[in-house]
Amino acid sequence: MPFPEGFLWGGATAANQCEGGYNEDGRGLANVDVMPHGADREAVGCGTRKMLDFEPGYYYPAQTGIDMYHRYKEDLALFGEMGFKTYRLSIAWTRIFPNGDEEEPNEKGLQFYEDLFRECRKNGMEPLVTITHFDLPIHLIKEYGGWRNRRLIDFYKKLVTVLFTRYKGLVKYWLTFNEINMILHMPFMGAGLVFEEGENQTQAKYVAAHNELVASAWATKIGHEIDPENKIGCMLAAGAFYPYSCNPKDVREAQLRAQENYFFVDVQSRGYYPTYALKMLEREGIDVGMTEEDEKILAENTVDFISFSYYNTRTAAAPDTDTDAASGNAFASAKNPYLTYTDWGWPVDPLGFRITINEIYDRYQKPLFVVENGLGAKDEPDENGYVEDDYRIDYLRKHIEQMKAAIEEDGVPMLGYTTWGPIDLVSAGTGEMSKRYGFIYVDRDDAGNGTLKRSKKKSFDWYKKVIATNGEDLA
Ligand code: BG6
Repeated sequence: MPFPEGFLWGGATAANQCEGGYNEDGRGLANVDVMPHGADREAVGCGTRKMLDFEPGYYYPAQTGIDMYHRYKEDLALFGEMGFKTYRLSIAWTRIFPNGDEEEPNEKGLQFYEDLFRECRKNGMEPLVTITHFDLPIHLIKEYGGWRNRRLIDFYKKLVTVLFTRYKGLVKYWLTFNEINMILHMPFMGAGLVFEEGENQTQAKYVAAHNELVASAWATKIGHEIDPENKIGCMLAAGAFYPYSCNPKDVREAQLRAQENYFFVDVQSRGYYPTYALKMLEREGIDVGMTEEDEKILAENTVDFISFSYYNTRTAAAPDTDTDAASGNAFASAKNPYLTYTDWGWPVDPLGFRITINEIYDRYQKPLFVVENGLGAKDEPDENGYVEDDYRIDYLRKHIEQMKAAIEEDGVPMLGYTTWGPIDLVSAGTGEMSKRYGFIYVDRDDAGNGTLKRSKKKSFDWYKKVIATNGEDLA
C-alpha cells in the first residue's frame, strides 16, 4: 500500500477567494479585497497600479467570494461526505486585527474561525491553516508601506500569538505564508507593495521577503513554544525549471531561475541565506536589513515540513533565445513543446510533479505536504448543475499516480495532498469564477451573477473513492 496510514487527503481554499462577507462582524479591508476582476487586476497585483480602495466602474469578486462566510457548514459537510481527512483554509488577518496594528483582536473574527475549526473536526477533518494567504490589512499598506517595513514583523508576531493561543488543541498544522516566493511576481498580492515611480523594485521585494522570512521564523518559534504539538511549515509555489535545451546556457538559466525560486525555502528550511543569494544581493547593492537577532531567529527556527503548490513545470531559455512564451502559475516561461496546455495556457505535466517532489526532497530532506494541485478549466453544467468533468479526473489521476510513485518507488515521505479549490472559487490570478477547480460546482459567473447554489460534479464521487481506498483505486 503506497500511501501511508493517516495520509491527509483533502482540499485547499483561501479566505479571500471564498469567504466574502468582506465588511461583516468588524472585518477590515485587505489588499486582496481591492483586486478587481478585469484588465487592471494584474497591474494592481503587481503593485504598479495603485488601488487601495474600491473604485467606481470595477467589480471586486472578493467582496462576496462564494459566500462561504455564511455557507461554510454546508460546504464542510460536502467535504466531509467526500471523506476529507484535512481541509486547508486561510485566516483573513483583517477579521482578527481589522487594521493590523490594534492592541486587541476582534472577538467576532476569532469566534468565526473557532466555530469553523470545530465544524471541521465534526466532519472528520484536521484543519490545515495558512496564516497568511496573500492577505494584508490595507491600513498596514497605507500607514507602513506593507512588508517593506520591519514593523510588520511585530504585527505578525502579535497575530500569530493570538492564533496559536486561541486555537491550541484545535489546530495542529500551520503554514506561515502562502507561496512566499510570489512576492517576486505579484508583490502587491504577496506583500502589499505599491511602487513609486522610479523606485528600485528589486530592493523593495527582497527587503519585504526578508521581513516575511523573519516573521515566518518567529511564528515557528512562537507556535512551538505555545504548543510543542504544533507542526509548522513553509509554502512554495513549486515546479521544476527545465532547460529549454541541453545548451549549457539554457541549463544555467534554469539553475538560476530555480535558485531564485528556492531562495525562500532555503532560508526557511536551512536557517540561513544561501551563498548565491548573498552574492546576488551584494551585486545588486541591496541591503535587506539583517540584524544579529534576525540571524539567530532564522537559524534556530526552521520549519517542520515543506509544503508546496504544484500546477506545472517551467521551462527556462537563455536570454535572447527565440522561444514561444507559455503561461503558468504567475511565472512566464518558455513554451515546452512536449507538454499539453490547459484552457488558460498552463502546461500539464504529471511526470514533472514526480520530478518536482524529488527535487524538493533531495534539497531539504524534510517531510513534504502537497497543499495545492488541480486543473482550472471551463465547466459546462447541465440544468441541475452537474458537470461531467472527466478532464479534471484525468488530470488529478495522472498527478496522484506520480505522487504515488514518488512515495512508493522513490521513498519520499509525504504527509498529505490537498487539491486546490475542492469547491469552485474566485481565481487568484484572474478574478474569474469561470476558471473552475472544484468537485463542487458553484452557480456564479465572472460578473457576480448566479444563485451560489452548490452541486456535485462527476469528480466528487471519483475523489471520494480515491480517499476511501487511500489512493488504491484511481480508476
Ligand atoms: C496559487 C494560489 O497560486 O494558485 C491560489 O495559492 C490560486 O490562491 C491557485 O488560486 C490557482 O491559481 P489561479 O490563478 O488559477 O486561481
